[in-house]
Amino acid sequence: MSQDMHDENLLDHEYDGIRELDNQLPRWWVYGFYFTIIFGMAYMLYWHGTDAGLSSAQEYEAELQEAFDVYGIDPEKGANDPVRIMAGMTLELRTDEANLSAGREIFNTSKGNCYTCHLEDLGGSIGPNLTDNYWIHGCDLESIVTNIITGFPEKGMIPYGSGNPLTEDELLQVASYVISMRGTSPADPKPVDMERAVECE
Ligand code: HEC
Repeated sequence: MSQDMHDENLLDHEYDGIRELDNQLPRWWVYGFYFTIIFGMAYMLYWHGTDAGLSSAQEYEAELQEAFDVYGIDPEKGANDPVRIMAGMTLELRTDEANLSAGREIFNTSKGNCYTCHLEDLGGSIGPNLTDNYWIHGCDLESIVTNIITGFPEKGMIPYGSGNPLTEDELLQVASYVISMRGTSPADPKPVDMERAVECE
C-alpha cells in the first residue's frame, strides 16, 4: 500500500481497503463514446426532428400500399375483395358429378370447414340451413361465391370458411355443390330467420 500511495493516479479515498486508480480511458473507448453522442443526435433529428424517417406505423402503411399497388388490391376492401377476385372468373354453375363431388369434399373437410357450422347435410347449426328456399344474403351463384370469399366474420364465418383462399375452380365447385343441395331434406333443419331471410326467386 505504501508504494501505491505515490501513484499519481491514485485517488485519496479508501473503502474497506479498496482504493481507486483514476486511469485514462482508452482512446478508442472515448471516441466510441463521442460517436454514440453524435449518432444519437443525428438519429433523433432524423426520426423525430424531421419528416425524413418514417415511423413504424407510416412504414407499415407504405408497405401495405406497395402490396396493394403490386397486387391491385383496394386498400379499403383488403385482400378478400370479391369484386377483384371474381373479376376474371366465369360464373358458371358446375353440374357434373366430378365437380360436385370436389365441392362436397371442400364442404366436408378442413379445406372449407363449411360442415362445422352448416353440417354435412347442410341443415345448419351455427350457420343457416343451406337447403331451404330462404336466404339472407342471396341464393344465386354470384352471391354465394361472394359470401364464401368474404365470409361473415362478425357472425363467425371467416373468409373461405377456413381462412385459406380457395381457387376459382374450388369456389365454383363448393358454391355449385351448395346450390345442388337445395331442396334436399336434412335431418334436423335449422329454423329460418324470417326477420332476415327472403325467399329465393
Ligand atoms: C364458423 C362457422 C361457419 C363456417 C366454417 C362456414 N360458415 Fe357459412 N355461415 C355461417 C354463419 C353464422 C352464417 C350466417 C351469416 C348471417 O347471419 O348473416 C353463414 C352464412 C353462409 C351463407 C349465406 C346463407 C344465406 O342465408 O344467405 C352461405 C352461402 C354460406 N355460409 C356458405 C358457407 C360455405 C360454402 C362454407 C365453407 C366454405 C361456410 N359457409 C363456412 C357460419 C359458417
